[in-house]
Amino acid sequence: MSFRAAFGREPDGWWAAPGRVNLIGEHVDYAAGLCLPLALPQRTVVAAARRDDGRVRLRSATEPSGWEGPLDAIGPGTPAGWAGYAAGVLWALRGAGYPVPGIDLLVGDTVPPGAGLSSSAALECAVAVAVDDLAGLGLAGSDAGRTELAGACRRAENEVVGAPTGGMDQAAALRCTARHALLLDCRDGSAKQVPLDLAAEGLTLLVIDTRVRHNLVDGQYGQRRDAVEQAAAALGVATLRDAAPADVAQLRDPVLRRRAHHVVTEISRVGEAVTLLHRRQVRRIGPLLDASHASLRDDYEVSCPELDSAVTASRHAGALGARMTGGGFGGSAIAVVEADAAARIAAAVRVAAARAGHPEPALLHVVPSPGAARLQ
Ligand code: GLA
Repeated sequence: MSFRAAFGREPDGWWAAPGRVNLIGEHVDYAAGLCLPLALPQRTVVAAARRDDGRVRLRSATEPSGWEGPLDAIGPGTPAGWAGYAAGVLWALRGAGYPVPGIDLLVGDTVPPGAGLSSSAALECAVAVAVDDLAGLGLAGSDAGRTELAGACRRAENEVVGAPTGGMDQAAALRCTARHALLLDCRDGSAKQVPLDLAAEGLTLLVIDTRVRHNLVDGQYGQRRDAVEQAAAALGVATLRDAAPADVAQLRDPVLRRRAHHVVTEISRVGEAVTLLHRRQVRRIGPLLDASHASLRDDYEVSCPELDSAVTASRHAGALGARMTGGGFGGSAIAVVEADAAARIAAAVRVAAARAGHPEPALLHVVPSPGAARLQ
Protein backbone atom coordinates (compact mmCIF):
# COMPACT_ATOMS: atom_id res chain seq x y z
CA MET A 1 0.00 0.00 0.00
CA SER A 2 1.39 3.44 -0.90
CA PHE A 3 0.94 6.55 1.22
CA ARG A 4 -1.12 8.08 -1.59
CA ALA A 5 -3.39 5.02 -1.72
CA ALA A 6 -3.84 5.14 2.07
CA PHE A 7 -4.38 8.87 2.53
CA GLY A 8 -4.86 10.49 -0.90
CA ARG A 9 -1.81 12.75 -0.51
CA GLU A 10 1.98 12.60 -0.53
CA PRO A 11 4.00 12.21 2.72
CA ASP A 12 6.22 14.98 4.11
CA GLY A 13 9.02 12.41 4.56
CA TRP A 14 10.17 8.93 5.63
CA TRP A 15 11.77 7.99 8.93
CA ALA A 16 13.26 4.71 10.18
CA ALA A 17 14.30 3.14 13.47
CA PRO A 18 16.29 -0.07 14.03
CA GLY A 19 15.65 -3.25 15.96
CA ARG A 20 18.23 -4.26 18.54
CA VAL A 21 20.01 -7.15 20.12
CA ASN A 22 21.54 -6.90 23.55
CA LEU A 23 25.15 -8.10 23.69
CA ILE A 24 24.94 -8.60 27.46
CA GLY A 25 23.10 -7.10 30.46
CA GLU A 26 19.76 -8.94 30.22
CA HIS A 27 16.78 -8.38 32.51
CA VAL A 28 18.65 -5.72 34.45
CA ASP A 29 17.32 -2.48 32.94
CA TYR A 30 14.39 -2.40 35.39
CA ALA A 31 16.85 -3.03 38.26
CA ALA A 32 18.78 0.19 37.46
CA GLY A 33 21.52 -1.99 35.96
CA LEU A 34 23.87 -1.79 32.98
CA CYS A 35 23.11 -3.12 29.51
CA LEU A 36 25.02 -3.20 26.25
CA PRO A 37 22.65 -3.27 23.26
CA LEU A 38 23.47 -2.56 19.63
CA ALA A 39 21.18 -1.43 16.82
CA LEU A 40 20.50 -3.78 13.88
CA PRO A 41 20.46 -3.07 10.15
CA GLN A 42 16.82 -4.31 10.21
CA ARG A 43 14.56 -1.25 10.49
CA THR A 44 10.97 -0.15 10.68
CA VAL A 45 10.12 2.60 8.20
CA VAL A 46 7.25 5.07 8.48
CA ALA A 47 6.01 7.66 6.00
CA ALA A 48 4.18 10.59 7.57
CA ALA A 49 2.55 13.93 6.87
CA ARG A 50 1.49 16.65 9.27
CA ARG A 51 -2.19 17.54 9.69
CA ASP A 52 -3.46 20.82 11.11
CA ASP A 53 -6.80 19.54 12.45
CA GLY A 54 -5.51 17.49 15.41
CA ARG A 55 -6.61 14.20 13.86
CA VAL A 56 -4.52 11.06 13.63
CA ARG A 57 -4.77 8.41 10.90
CA LEU A 58 -2.62 5.29 11.23
CA ARG A 59 -2.24 2.54 8.63
CA SER A 60 0.17 -0.31 8.07
CA ALA A 61 1.31 -1.97 4.86
CA THR A 62 1.29 -5.35 6.63
CA GLU A 63 -1.58 -5.18 9.16
CA PRO A 64 -5.20 -5.07 8.02
CA SER A 65 -6.37 -2.93 10.93
CA GLY A 66 -5.64 0.78 11.29
CA TRP A 67 -6.85 3.54 13.57
CA GLU A 68 -8.29 6.99 13.14
CA GLY A 69 -9.34 9.54 15.73
CA PRO A 70 -8.50 12.85 17.41
CA LEU A 71 -5.32 13.27 19.47
CA ASP A 72 -7.54 13.68 22.53
CA ALA A 73 -8.91 10.13 22.14
CA ILE A 74 -5.48 8.53 22.69
CA GLY A 75 -4.78 7.25 26.20
CA PRO A 76 -4.15 4.11 28.26
CA GLY A 77 -5.62 1.16 26.29
CA THR A 78 -6.62 3.30 23.26
CA PRO A 79 -6.01 2.50 20.50
CA ALA A 80 -5.61 -1.25 20.98
CA GLY A 81 -3.27 -3.44 18.94
CA TRP A 82 -0.23 -2.28 16.99
CA ALA A 83 -1.60 1.26 16.59
CA GLY A 84 -1.23 1.78 20.35
CA TYR A 85 2.58 1.74 20.04
CA ALA A 86 2.47 4.50 17.42
CA ALA A 87 -0.32 6.64 18.86
CA GLY A 88 1.09 6.19 22.36
CA VAL A 89 4.17 8.16 21.37
CA LEU A 90 2.01 11.15 20.37
CA TRP A 91 0.19 10.87 23.71
CA ALA A 92 3.42 10.69 25.71
CA LEU A 93 5.04 13.64 23.94
CA ARG A 94 1.88 15.70 24.42
CA GLY A 95 1.82 14.72 28.08
CA ALA A 96 5.39 16.01 28.39
CA GLY A 97 4.19 19.39 27.09
CA TYR A 98 5.35 19.22 23.48
CA PRO A 99 3.11 20.71 20.76
CA VAL A 100 2.17 17.56 18.83
CA PRO A 101 0.20 18.06 15.59
CA GLY A 102 -2.24 15.67 13.96
CA ILE A 103 -0.60 13.20 11.60
CA ASP A 104 -1.18 10.76 8.74
CA LEU A 105 1.21 7.85 9.18
CA LEU A 106 1.85 4.66 7.20
CA VAL A 107 4.08 1.89 8.56
CA GLY A 108 6.04 0.22 5.75
CA ASP A 109 8.86 -2.32 6.18
CA THR A 110 9.29 -3.53 9.73
CA VAL A 111 11.83 -5.24 11.96
CA PRO A 112 10.70 -8.92 11.95
CA PRO A 113 7.91 -8.98 14.56
CA GLY A 114 7.92 -11.63 17.30
CA ALA A 115 11.65 -12.36 16.90
CA GLY A 116 12.66 -10.66 20.16
CA LEU A 117 14.42 -7.93 18.17
CA SER A 118 12.26 -5.10 19.56
CA SER A 119 10.01 -4.43 16.62
CA SER A 120 7.69 -2.53 18.98
CA ALA A 121 10.42 -0.14 20.12
CA ALA A 122 11.45 0.32 16.48
CA LEU A 123 7.90 1.40 15.61
CA GLU A 124 7.70 3.76 18.59
CA CYS A 125 11.07 5.31 17.83
CA ALA A 126 10.38 5.74 14.10
CA VAL A 127 7.19 7.59 15.04
CA ALA A 128 9.11 9.65 17.61
CA VAL A 129 11.69 10.94 15.13
CA ALA A 130 8.93 11.61 12.56
CA VAL A 131 6.93 13.71 15.04
CA ASP A 132 10.10 15.43 16.24
CA ASP A 133 10.74 16.55 12.66
CA LEU A 134 7.16 17.39 11.69
CA ALA A 135 6.61 19.45 14.85
CA GLY A 136 10.08 21.03 14.70
CA LEU A 137 10.91 19.90 18.25
CA GLY A 138 14.62 19.47 17.46
CA LEU A 139 15.06 16.66 20.00
CA ALA A 140 16.63 14.11 17.66
CA GLY A 141 19.62 16.41 17.11
CA SER A 142 21.27 15.67 20.47
CA ASP A 143 21.74 12.69 22.77
CA ALA A 144 19.89 14.58 25.51
CA GLY A 145 16.96 15.12 23.17
CA ARG A 146 17.03 11.48 22.07
CA THR A 147 16.96 10.46 25.72
CA GLU A 148 13.79 12.55 26.07
CA LEU A 149 12.27 10.86 23.00
CA ALA A 150 13.23 7.41 24.36
CA GLY A 151 11.43 8.25 27.62
CA ALA A 152 8.28 9.16 25.69
CA CYS A 153 8.47 5.89 23.72
CA ARG A 154 8.83 3.92 26.93
CA ARG A 155 5.81 5.69 28.48
CA ALA A 156 3.84 4.85 25.32
CA GLU A 157 4.64 1.18 25.81
CA ASN A 158 4.19 1.14 29.60
CA GLU A 159 1.07 3.29 29.84
CA VAL A 160 -0.81 3.20 26.52
CA VAL A 161 0.00 -0.40 25.51
CA GLY A 162 0.33 -1.60 29.10
CA ALA A 163 3.59 -3.58 28.73
CA PRO A 164 5.82 -3.06 31.80
CA THR A 165 9.13 -3.05 29.86
CA GLY A 166 12.29 -1.44 31.18
CA GLY A 167 13.45 1.13 28.59
CA MET A 168 16.55 -0.55 27.12
CA ASP A 169 14.96 -1.16 23.72
CA GLN A 170 13.86 2.45 23.15
CA ALA A 171 17.26 3.77 24.26
CA ALA A 172 18.96 1.37 21.83
CA ALA A 173 16.76 2.33 18.87
CA LEU A 174 17.35 6.05 19.44
CA ARG A 175 20.85 6.33 20.90
CA CYS A 176 22.96 3.58 19.27
CA THR A 177 25.53 4.50 16.63
CA ALA A 178 27.22 2.47 13.85
CA ARG A 179 30.18 0.26 14.86
CA HIS A 180 29.38 0.70 18.58
CA ALA A 181 27.45 -0.95 21.35
CA LEU A 182 25.67 1.37 23.78
CA LEU A 183 26.65 1.08 27.43
CA LEU A 184 23.42 2.17 29.05
CA ASP A 185 23.40 2.95 32.75
CA CYS A 186 19.77 2.54 33.73
CA ARG A 187 20.34 4.18 37.12
CA ASP A 188 20.67 7.67 35.64
CA GLY A 189 19.93 7.08 31.93
CA SER A 190 23.46 8.05 30.90
CA ALA A 191 25.09 6.19 28.01
CA LYS A 192 28.53 5.70 26.49
CA GLN A 193 29.44 4.48 23.03
CA VAL A 194 31.68 1.39 23.22
CA PRO A 195 33.59 0.53 20.00
CA LEU A 196 32.39 -2.80 18.55
CA ASP A 197 33.82 -3.15 15.07
CA LEU A 198 33.46 -6.92 14.81
CA ALA A 199 34.24 -7.06 11.08
CA ALA A 200 37.58 -5.33 11.65
CA GLU A 201 38.43 -8.12 14.13
CA GLY A 202 37.45 -10.87 11.67
CA LEU A 203 34.33 -11.66 13.70
CA THR A 204 30.62 -11.91 12.92
CA LEU A 205 27.59 -11.57 15.14
CA LEU A 206 25.01 -14.21 14.26
CA VAL A 207 21.42 -13.61 15.30
CA ILE A 208 19.44 -16.84 15.52
CA ASP A 209 15.69 -16.21 15.43
CA THR A 210 14.15 -19.41 16.84
CA ARG A 211 10.79 -18.45 15.31
CA VAL A 212 9.05 -19.43 18.51
CA ARG A 213 7.21 -17.25 21.01
CA HIS A 214 5.83 -18.93 24.10
CA ASN A 215 2.90 -16.57 24.50
CA LEU A 216 1.37 -18.61 27.29
CA VAL A 217 3.99 -17.13 29.58
CA ASP A 218 3.35 -13.47 28.74
CA GLY A 219 2.74 -12.50 32.36
CA GLN A 220 6.16 -13.89 33.29
CA TYR A 221 7.96 -10.64 32.42
CA GLY A 222 5.92 -8.77 35.01
CA GLN A 223 6.49 -11.57 37.53
CA ARG A 224 10.27 -11.27 37.08
CA ARG A 225 10.04 -7.51 37.62
CA ASP A 226 8.00 -8.04 40.77
CA ALA A 227 10.51 -10.57 42.11
CA VAL A 228 13.37 -8.14 41.53
CA GLU A 229 11.50 -5.41 43.41
CA GLN A 230 10.65 -7.78 46.27
CA ALA A 231 14.29 -8.85 46.54
CA ALA A 232 15.45 -5.22 46.68
CA ALA A 233 12.84 -4.44 49.38
CA ALA A 234 13.89 -7.48 51.42
CA LEU A 235 17.50 -6.33 51.26
CA GLY A 236 16.57 -2.76 52.17
CA VAL A 237 18.04 -1.24 48.98
CA ALA A 238 16.31 0.99 46.43
CA THR A 239 17.28 -1.28 43.51
CA LEU A 240 19.38 -4.42 43.04
CA ARG A 241 22.07 -2.23 41.48
CA ASP A 242 22.92 -1.37 45.07
CA ALA A 243 23.24 -5.02 46.18
CA ALA A 244 26.35 -7.28 46.13
CA PRO A 245 26.41 -11.08 45.67
CA ALA A 246 27.12 -11.50 49.40
CA ASP A 247 23.94 -9.54 50.26
CA VAL A 248 21.88 -11.63 47.86
CA ALA A 249 23.07 -14.86 49.49
CA GLN A 250 21.22 -13.77 52.62
CA LEU A 251 17.80 -13.73 50.96
CA ARG A 252 15.76 -16.49 52.58
CA ASP A 253 13.31 -17.18 49.74
CA PRO A 254 15.16 -19.48 47.29
CA VAL A 255 13.34 -18.14 44.22
CA LEU A 256 14.03 -14.50 45.07
CA ARG A 257 17.63 -15.44 45.82
CA ARG A 258 18.12 -16.98 42.37
CA ARG A 259 16.41 -14.08 40.59
CA ALA A 260 18.52 -11.54 42.46
CA HIS A 261 21.67 -13.59 41.92
CA HIS A 262 21.11 -13.37 38.18
CA VAL A 263 20.70 -9.59 38.33
CA VAL A 264 23.78 -8.79 40.41
CA THR A 265 26.06 -11.21 38.54
CA GLU A 266 24.76 -10.03 35.16
CA ILE A 267 25.49 -6.40 36.01
CA SER A 268 29.08 -7.28 36.89
CA ARG A 269 29.45 -9.31 33.66
CA VAL A 270 28.54 -6.16 31.71
CA GLY A 271 31.36 -4.28 33.44
CA GLU A 272 33.81 -7.06 32.54
CA ALA A 273 32.63 -7.16 28.91
CA VAL A 274 33.07 -3.40 28.53
CA THR A 275 36.61 -3.59 29.92
CA LEU A 276 37.48 -6.28 27.36
CA LEU A 277 35.94 -4.30 24.49
CA HIS A 278 37.90 -1.19 25.46
CA ARG A 279 41.07 -3.32 25.42
CA ARG A 280 40.07 -4.66 21.98
CA GLN A 281 39.95 -8.20 23.39
CA VAL A 282 36.59 -8.96 21.84
CA ARG A 283 37.29 -12.69 21.53
CA ARG A 284 37.49 -12.94 25.28
CA ILE A 285 33.87 -11.92 25.86
CA GLY A 286 32.71 -15.42 24.83
CA PRO A 287 32.75 -16.95 28.34
CA LEU A 288 30.79 -13.94 29.66
CA LEU A 289 28.06 -14.55 27.07
CA ASP A 290 27.98 -18.23 28.04
CA ALA A 291 27.73 -17.39 31.74
CA SER A 292 24.95 -14.89 31.00
CA HIS A 293 22.96 -17.57 29.21
CA ALA A 294 23.40 -20.09 32.03
CA SER A 295 22.25 -17.48 34.53
CA LEU A 296 19.17 -16.56 32.48
CA ARG A 297 18.33 -20.24 31.99
CA ASP A 298 18.93 -21.53 35.53
CA ASP A 299 18.54 -18.58 37.92
CA TYR A 300 16.16 -16.32 36.03
CA GLU A 301 14.31 -19.09 34.13
CA VAL A 302 13.47 -17.08 31.02
CA SER A 303 15.02 -19.36 28.39
CA CYS A 304 13.29 -22.22 26.53
CA PRO A 305 14.37 -25.43 24.74
CA GLU A 306 14.66 -23.75 21.33
CA LEU A 307 16.97 -21.01 22.68
CA ASP A 308 19.04 -23.51 24.67
CA SER A 309 19.45 -25.70 21.59
CA ALA A 310 20.56 -22.75 19.43
CA VAL A 311 23.09 -21.65 22.05
CA THR A 312 24.49 -25.15 22.67
CA ALA A 313 24.70 -26.01 18.97
CA SER A 314 26.51 -22.80 18.06
CA ARG A 315 28.99 -23.30 20.88
CA HIS A 316 29.67 -26.92 19.93
CA ALA A 317 30.26 -25.80 16.35
CA GLY A 318 32.89 -23.31 17.49
CA ALA A 319 31.16 -20.04 18.48
CA LEU A 320 33.27 -17.97 20.88
CA GLY A 321 30.19 -17.40 23.02
CA ALA A 322 26.41 -17.48 22.69
CA ARG A 323 23.35 -16.49 24.69
CA MET A 324 19.67 -15.72 24.44
CA THR A 325 19.02 -12.01 23.91
CA GLY A 326 16.02 -9.88 24.87
CA GLY A 327 13.12 -10.85 27.09
CA GLY A 328 13.32 -14.62 26.42
CA PHE A 329 10.66 -17.40 26.26
CA GLY A 330 11.47 -17.64 22.55
CA GLY A 331 12.74 -14.94 20.23
CA SER A 332 16.41 -14.79 19.35
CA ALA A 333 19.85 -15.89 20.50
CA ILE A 334 23.17 -14.32 19.50
CA ALA A 335 26.52 -15.96 18.86
CA VAL A 336 29.89 -14.27 18.38
CA VAL A 337 31.75 -16.30 15.76
CA GLU A 338 34.87 -16.15 13.60
CA ALA A 339 33.69 -14.72 10.27
CA ASP A 340 35.09 -17.68 8.33
CA ALA A 341 33.21 -20.15 10.57
CA ALA A 342 29.83 -18.38 10.36
CA ALA A 343 28.34 -20.53 7.60
CA ARG A 344 29.37 -23.77 9.30
CA ILE A 345 27.97 -22.65 12.66
CA ALA A 346 24.72 -21.49 11.07
CA ALA A 347 24.36 -24.90 9.40
CA ALA A 348 25.00 -26.68 12.72
CA VAL A 349 22.30 -24.60 14.41
CA ARG A 350 19.81 -25.54 11.70
CA VAL A 351 20.66 -29.24 11.97
CA ALA A 352 20.28 -29.17 15.78
CA ALA A 353 16.85 -27.50 15.45
CA ALA A 354 15.71 -30.09 12.90
CA ARG A 355 16.92 -32.98 15.10
CA ALA A 356 15.07 -31.61 18.11
CA GLY A 357 11.89 -31.11 16.07
CA HIS A 358 12.05 -27.31 16.50
CA PRO A 359 11.03 -24.86 13.75
CA GLU A 360 13.79 -23.98 11.30
CA PRO A 361 15.52 -20.90 12.75
CA ALA A 362 16.13 -17.77 10.68
CA LEU A 363 19.76 -16.64 10.72
CA LEU A 364 20.88 -13.05 10.33
CA HIS A 365 24.43 -11.68 10.15
CA VAL A 366 24.31 -8.25 11.74
CA VAL A 367 26.61 -5.27 12.22
CA PRO A 368 26.15 -2.52 14.83
CA SER A 369 24.08 0.06 12.97
CA PRO A 370 22.88 3.67 13.48
CA GLY A 371 19.87 4.74 15.54
CA ALA A 372 16.58 6.21 14.34
CA ALA A 373 16.73 8.95 11.68
CA ARG A 374 14.99 10.64 8.77
CA LEU A 375 15.61 8.90 5.44
CA GLN A 376 17.03 11.12 2.72
C1 GLA B 1 12.53 -6.76 26.88
C2 GLA B 1 12.21 -5.41 27.51
C3 GLA B 1 13.48 -4.69 27.94
C4 GLA B 1 14.40 -5.59 28.77
C5 GLA B 1 14.58 -6.93 28.09
C6 GLA B 1 15.35 -7.91 28.94
O1 GLA B 1 13.19 -6.58 25.66
O2 GLA B 1 11.53 -4.59 26.59
O3 GLA B 1 13.14 -3.52 28.65
O4 GLA B 1 13.90 -5.73 30.08
O5 GLA B 1 13.33 -7.54 27.76
O6 GLA B 1 16.66 -7.45 29.12
